[in-house]
Amino acid sequence: MEPAEQPPLRLLVCVNRRFGRDRPSCAARGSEKLLAALAPMLAALDPPIAAFPAPCQGRCSRGVTLRLLPTGRLVLDNDPRQPEAAIARLLSPPEGD
Ligand code: FES
Repeated sequence: MEPAEQPPLRLLVCVNRRFGRDRPSCAARGSEKLLAALAPMLAALDPPIAAFPAPCQGRCSRGVTLRLLPTGRLVLDNDPRQPEAAIARLLSPPEGD
């Protein structure tokens, strides 16, 4: 019997922008820039991870918010200036975010 094939990994990057003062959002923190940096880096992994823009993930004050599928694991507090750190956090065991 062959081992079960793992479903492909996908990363949702919240690119939601909430307008108005005192309304933090991932887009305001630079999530589009992070997505642009992450996409080719994740595509080069083995196995590759496809990155997609996503709507609000409900953790606006802890953005930039990333959600790894198919597990649904959230990785919070990502800095768009540090895509390598975001990838290291994605690939490490959950911290209990
Ligand atoms: S704006 Fe990104 S989680 Fe809400």
